[in-house]
Formats: sequence, structure tokens, C-alpha cells
Amino acid sequence: MEYLTGRRALVTGAGGAIGRATSLTFAREGCRVAAVDISRDAVFETVGLVEEAGGEAVAIVADVADEAQVHAAVDTAVQAFGGLDAIFNNAGVMPHQDKSLLQADADLWDLIFNINIRGTVHVTKWATPHLVAAGAGSILNMSSFLAYLGCSNPQDAYTASKGAIAAMTRALAVQLGPQHVRVNALAPGPIATAHVEAFFSEPEERAIRLARYPLGRFGTVQDVAELACFLSSEASSWLTGQVVVLDGGASINYV
Ligand SMILES: NC(=O)c1ccc[n+]([C@@H]2O[C@H](COP(=O)([O-])OP(=O)(O)OC[C@H]3O[C@@H](n4cnc5c(N)ncnc54)[C@H](O)[C@@H]3O)[C@@H](O)[C@H]2O)c1
Repeated sequence: MEYLTGRRALVTGAGGAIGRATSLTFAREGCRVAAVDISRDAVFETVGLVEEAGGEAVAIVADVADEAQVHAAVDTAVQAFGGLDAIFNNAGVMPHQDKSLLQADADLWDLIFNINIRGTVHVTKWATPHLVAAGAGSILNMSSFLAYLGCSNPQDAYTASKGAIAAMTRALAVQLGPQHVRVNALAPGPIATAHVEAFFSEPEERAIRLARYPLGRFGTVQDVAELACFLSSEASSWLTGQVVVLDGGASINYV
């Protein structure tokens, strides 16, 4: 038995590193995937990979920060699959210009909040009635372990956005539990994507960071995808309102 047999999921940021790995893993587990991304090329590439692997997916180009586009994207997914059982609010940005709030650039804060938070709000708002109708819905949000930690290399707008996601996850879990929709979030530490590799490109900086990881490595996109799969499936049917930290033990290691 696959984890997600017969389920239908909408994944945002599906053209990106984690979104692509998750779309492929969802499809591997028997799920049909509505792959949403602002990048046309990236999302069509993801759908091509899912189909090559024998899965079923549709590509939907939309900007999650734009509510009208999100509404249309959800409608397209529902028309394609006849409903929706799960959403993964994964789309997010982490611009390198994001530093301390003491040097806050209002436009940068707006950009990050519009995508990371409003994007999550828009998708959740328009998809939730379909999840309720499906009867065993799952909402999975993307937070970060930074929601729980201060960092000597600050990314304050990003950090604040991920803290808000964690808070919204708990708030919504209480509201939607009685309607059989579970709401959880992932809070990963650094995942070895191109973006993160660029962030830790200085070998010294990288070594300082890795010394804090009891498991001795950054995460992989597959580490995230497998947990996303479990949390979106009925195998986790008594789990809601949780922000699950996956960070190789970094946040429990006092050094
Ligand atoms: N990579 C990490 O180390 C890490 C750690 C913790 C949390 N996260 C979170 O995981 C999520 C995915 O990260 P990733 O590393 O795969 O990043 P990524 O940049 O590879 O993928 C993000 C995807 O989101 C898409 N996107 C950006 N803005 C969008 C918009 N307005 N509308 C629709 N799609 C949009 C991009 O086109 C891209 O395909 C993000 O929310 C990120 O904050 C990542």
C-alpha cells in the first residue's frame, strides 16, 4: 500500500528544489499532483519528470502572492482531479539581501511577506473548502528552523515570515480539526540545495555550521519530501497543529 494512494495534492513552488522532490515523491506514493509555480519552465519540467516516472501531474503557472491567480489555480486543480485532499504550501523566497531588521528595507519585507505569508494564506483560503469536502484533508505549510532560533547571520524578514507560518499553522489546526482537516508544518534546517550551497560557499563558514549538526550533514530534498509525504497522508491521521523540525539535530545541540 502506498502512502497517498488515490489522493490529490496541490504543491506550490513545485518547480523548485524541495517542491520538485516532493512532487515526485507524492506521485511515487500514488498521489496525483497539481504542480504550481511562478516559473513556467520549472513547473513543466517537474511535471515532465513525474510523468516520466509513471505518475500523474498537471502544471499550473501562478504567482501565489496574487489571490486571483491562486483562486484560478485551485479551480484548475479541482477540475483536473475532481477535488483536492492535500495542499503543500511550499513556495517561498529567501533573498540574499535580507539581513538585520535594523537595516530593514521596507520593499524587501513586503516582497518576502507577500510570497511567504500571503501566498500561504491565499492557497489555504481557496483550497480549504475542497479539503473539507474531501473528508480527510491535509494542509502542510513550510516554516523553517529559524522560526525557533536566533542567528548570528541574520535574515530577519525571512525568519519573521517563517515564525508567522508556524503560528498560523497552530491557529488553523484548531479551527479545521472538527472538519477533519489537519494542519501541520515543516521546519527544516539548511537543505543542500544550490541556494543553500551558495549561502555556505565559504569553506570556513560551512565548517563552523556543520560542527553544530550531530548528524554531521545538511539535509537533502529527499529528507524533506519523505516527511512531507507522511504528514500529508492518513498515516499521520492523529497529528495536527505541529511544526516538525528536521535539522539533523542542530537545534537541540547546545555548543
Ligand atoms: N532550502 C532550504 O534549506 C530550506 C530550509 C528551510 C525552509 N525552506 C523553505 O522551503 C521552501 C522551498 O525552498 P527551496 O529550497 O526548494 O527553494 P527554491 O528556490 O528551489 O524553490 C522555490 C520555488 O518557489 C517558486 N516561487 C517563488 N516565488 C513564487 C511565487 N510568488 N509564486 C509561485 N511560486 C513561487 C520558485 O519559482 C521556485 O521554483 C521555501 O519556502 C523555503 O523557504 C528551505
